[in-house]
Amino acid sequence: MTTIEEPAVDMAAAPVVRIADLKAHVGEGVTVRGWVQHHRSKGKLQFIVMRDGSGICQLVASKADLSAEDWDAADSLTLESSFSATGTVRADERAPGGAEIGLQSLHVYQVAQEYPIAEKEHGIGFLMENRHLWLRSTRQNAALKIRAGVVKAVRDFLDSHGFTLVDAPILTPNACEGTSNLFETDYFGQPAYLSQSGQLYNEAAIGSLGRVYCFGPTFRAEKSKTRRHLMEFWMVEPEVAFMELEELLQLEEQFISCVVQTVLETRREELKVLERDVSKLAAIVPPFPRISYDDAINYLQRTVNPATKWGDDFGGDEETALGSEYAKPLFITRYPTQIKAFYMQPDPQRPDVVLAADLIAPEGYGEICGGSQRIHDLALIEQRIAEHSLPREAFEWYLDVRRYGSVPHSGFGLGIERLTAWIGGLPHVRETIPFPRLYEWCRP
Ligand code: 4AD
Ligand code: MG
Repeated sequence: MTTIEEPAVDMAAAPVVRIADLKAHVGEGVTVRGWVQHHRSKGKLQFIVMRDGSGICQLVASKADLSAEDWDAADSLTLESSFSATGTVRADERAPGGAEIGLQSLHVYQVAQEYPIAEKEHGIGFLMENRHLWLRSTRQNAALKIRAGVVKAVRDFLDSHGFTLVDAPILTPNACEGTSNLFETDYFGQPAYLSQSGQLYNEAAIGSLGRVYCFGPTFRAEKSKTRRHLMEFWMVEPEVAFMELEELLQLEEQFISCVVQTVLETRREELKVLERDVSKLAAIVPPFPRISYDDAINYLQRTVNPATKWGDDFGGDEETALGSEYAKPLFITRYPTQIKAFYMQPDPQRPDVVLAADLIAPEGYGEICGGSQRIHDLALIEQRIAEHSLPREAFEWYLDVRRYGSVPHSGFGLGIERLTAWIGGLPHVRETIPFPRLYEWCRP
């Protein structure tokens, strides 16, 4: 019997590949480039875990296979050192990506200084101060990928349902969501405000495009130190002409369900890293439960706080109590007109409540969407602007939307960070955005 010799792998021709693609190169020579996530030596062997952004992979260095120079270079690699490595890909079902590399040569870009974030537990203040490095940890890497997956699913849903993206300005001359939490800037001697919401601009754009959405950063100077509040957060805001409240709720539940199911499919690995109970997400399908604000008040009086009264706004505790009653997000509909925004359409049958709904996530994540039918009658919107003491001149353009072919219309705003926190099972919104801006915290 003749033995067939394995052909030698030609390392000079080894292509640079991403760790995520290694499985397609089993038996071949490749070069990977990244950072040291873990390094341990055992006699004549070294095990180096490399992270390249697409995944992680174990490199096995055997003294016999390396030049003395490369062996020493490998030995010098500290945590987070940057290097490239060339070797043969071996299938290994136990390895994270299903493959590992037998190292044959390496190039060191930099031996990193002693890395401040160790594998031990760190306090949150230290991690926040080092957010630029904290981002490299496995959990934060997974959270960022889930966020990106949420954003893509959001865009894909809207783009494939007849919506046109319309970018709203960030510097604005007036408030949209009340004047108490505006960030003011100096605009050539005049005040301008960082946008709280692109909604008012969306309402103008539907006259051109019918169904639109804006998606960008929004700002609230909220003196709230809670796990749900950011000063700068990303909001997606769809707005639809000829749509009334009932249809809006159907759109919201289809949209949210689709985003959750898409992320569940496309980010399974990352959800596993975060130890998310995905069975809870699999259950997120339409229809969502609904209760009226009136019933919500009754429930809160009975179970949470007997002093709750009609006209109160809900805080985090109330939302958590209400949302925890259901496995799916809960719509609370028809809030008192007096506690909601000036643009919301009062119920014609009962003008003390508005045709609005907040969507409360389960598992204690609180309000993720706020939506409503908008006032389309010119006289009524003029009256509401006056009642809210809003500067009429700044809203003249907005009134034009009611002067030239006004139609019933509705829309909602979804906070990307709160949605990401819920989907990822993350305890605080600070882990859902790369560089969080929190109350009294604006660094790095
Ligand atoms: O309920 P809000 O204030 O609604 C609006 O701004 C409307 N103009 C939207 C519209 O109808 N086009 O905010 C909408 C969502 C909230 O449900 C929440 O998810 C998120 O934006 N949000 C915040 N997220 C993080 N930090 C904050 N401080 C937030 N404030 C609102
Ligand atoms: Mg709201």
